[in-house]
Amino acid sequence: MGAKEKPWGGRFSEATDPAVERFSASVAFDRALGRYDIRGSIAHARMLGRQGLLSPEDVAQLVEGLETIGREIEAGTFDFDPALEDVHMNVESRLRDRLGPVAGRLHTGRSRNDQVATDLALYLRDAASAAREGLQVLREVLVTRAREHIDTVLPGYTHLQRAQPVRLAHHWLAFFEMFGRDAGRFADLAGRLATSPLGSGALAGSTLPLDRENTAGALGFEAPSRNSMDAVASRDAALEFLSACAIAMVHLSRLADELVLWSSAEFGFVELADAYSTGSSLMPQKKNPDVPEIVRGKSGRAIGNLVTLLTVMKGLPLTYNRDLQEDKEPIFDSAATLGDSLHVLAGSLATLRVDTERMAQAAGDPMLLATDLAEALVREGVPFREAHEAVGKIVAHCLSNQLDLRGLTRQDLRAFHEAFPTGADELLSLERALEERALPGGTARVRVTEALDAAERELAEERQALGDGESGS
Ligand code: ARG
Repeated sequence: MGAKEKPWGGRFSEATDPAVERFSASVAFDRALGRYDIRGSIAHARMLGRQGLLSPEDVAQLVEGLETIGREIEAGTFDFDPALEDVHMNVESRLRDRLGPVAGRLHTGRSRNDQVATDLALYLRDAASAAREGLQVLREVLVTRAREHIDTVLPGYTHLQRAQPVRLAHHWLAFFEMFGRDAGRFADLAGRLATSPLGSGALAGSTLPLDRENTAGALGFEAPSRNSMDAVASRDAALEFLSACAIAMVHLSRLADELVLWSSAEFGFVELADAYSTGSSLMPQKKNPDVPEIVRGKSGRAIGNLVTLLTVMKGLPLTYNRDLQEDKEPIFDSAATLGDSLHVLAGSLATLRVDTERMAQAAGDPMLLATDLAEALVREGVPFREAHEAVGKIVAHCLSNQLDLRGLTRQDLRAFHEAFPTGADELLSLERALEERALPGGTARVRVTEALDAAERELAEERQALGDGESGS
């Protein structure tokens, strides 16, 4: 060795400055790749043996040593040393302590560049499954609560103004759809993680007779990556993961925001369980919706993490650059943030008390039926714009004279448009407003019941797919 204690220090005459060592070390966070690093190394060692690049005895020793280190990592007893820079060198150094010089044969035909890209692909595969699992649990809660509230009616809002009455089940199933697409994004990621970077070397492959198909298969990939430079230089699967996390967090944030709003005295639609809310340090009467607030707040980190990695990648020349080490913290943080947020929001929803009376009261505002009055005219052959204009005037008339829209007789209505067939009372009811919205995707009971049934079938299929995935890896 050249510089004292410097890894691969042959060409150096000075040791690394301690500040540089600290600055460049990643083991504080990339230790999360430990189990994947071990898996990749075991597959690589076995392949080297099959190819005659290692003796069977060496392979046996290396695999046994790696398995032991793997168990130490899982048990949390592995002593990660920041002086050894990253997780890969920590594992290799521990292997050398245990086995001596034979440990130095493991890195045959391999670079940390293809090694870390492989570790990351394996990590992302599990992280995507975990995200799907968390989304599944939340969607199960949404469907359970929605079924319970098929006959709970509340105003649907646009611009946060009461718009038209809807079933609470319909409202929550809207989030079921969003989270379903999120799960789909994580599932799609599997296709982008199907090729193994291992065997790409530093960037140009290897002169040694490696068997890339073998290691790809052993690690559950479909095939070796097609281009060694792309394999070590690209992180777009990570970007997709971060993007899927960011979108899911934005959906969670919208759901959380409604829980905050709805639990205010002004709405009074819901009350969070004590286990999912907190008190105020000053005001004894307060019950604060901190959980949904923090979820809403955390969505910012998920968006930031995506922007961070996009910015790291932008303008990087091929192939590997050390900048890429900055991919890890955003990925780990988004995975943890999404997992935790899904978990606490599922719990909040499962234990949420719904004030169906308050919702019904708000939905009972007859003005929410104004559109239906206009559509009654359309049924009589009146152009919609004309009907809208007439009903607009009726609404203004009711507001300035403090009249209930439903109290207007046919005669009253005819003062605004002669085509009204009956009085408002016969044309307007909450029940009709809901039941006549029976188009596909509508809030009529029959449609929402179908949607709930379909949702349950979809959840069963996803549960099956997640189970299959687990047994496959
Ligand atoms: N810690 C590094 C990373 O995460 C591992 C790869 C290092 N490769 C290198 N050529 N220095 O990117």
